[in-house]
Amino acid sequence: MSNIIPHKYEISVSERASLKGQKPIAVWFSGLSGSGKSTLANLLEKKLFSEGFHTYTLDGDNMRCGLNRDLGFDQESRNENIRRIAEVCKLFLDSGLIVIAAFITPKKIDRNIIKSTLGDACIEIFVDTPIEICEKRDVKGLYKKARQGEIRNFTGVTCEFEKPTAPDLHVETQKEEIEESIRRIFQYIHDRIIEK
Ligand code: ADX
Repeated sequence: MSNIIPHKYEISVSERASLKGQKPIAVWFSGLSGSGKSTLANLLEKKLFSEGFHTYTLDGDNMRCGLNRDLGFDQESRNENIRRIAEVCKLFLDSGLIVIAAFITPKKIDRNIIKSTLGDACIEIFVDTPIEICEKRDVKGLYKKARQGEIRNFTGVTCEFEKPTAPDLHVETQKEEIEESIRRIFQYIHDRIIEK
């Protein structure tokens, strides 16, 4: 970082957010592949959008088609994946948006990086769907491939998912209707995103 002197912008975060009539936060969903993160993220964005909030969603598979297409699934690449996304989230927060992120985020160390990058602006939601159910759903056919040894480092199969121990919200998709999960999440974040 030597010889780099950050420029101070004339318009502040609160001014950008105020123009949108909201307070920016990041809602970060973590959980196994097939746990329901993307579905929840989508429905939450639809709900926020319909209530007039300015939002954007960042999703693992989508980001890995663009910004992160040079990254794989070894530990180092996953650290870099999350580091970049946390930085992208930070930029979106600076722009005044409500950001919704859906990434497996399997390691505690990465979730700590997110917290140190985004601070209190980040709300962590653990989508806690048991592996047996994710594997039964196997929407993308990836668990089958992982069991057959065609995919290495597959989370939950050959790569550990360290369960979050103190998320802000805990969603158990096999025990709760999705509409109820969205209602709970929306209720939880509402006071944080409205401009008072
Ligand atoms: S993370 O572990 O680095 O947070 P991320 O959310 O970006 O993962 O990407 C996960 C998606 O990549 C999965 O939903 C799945 O579709 C795909 N994928 C491909 N290979 C793997 C793998 N080895 N482990 C987990 N997901 C994989």
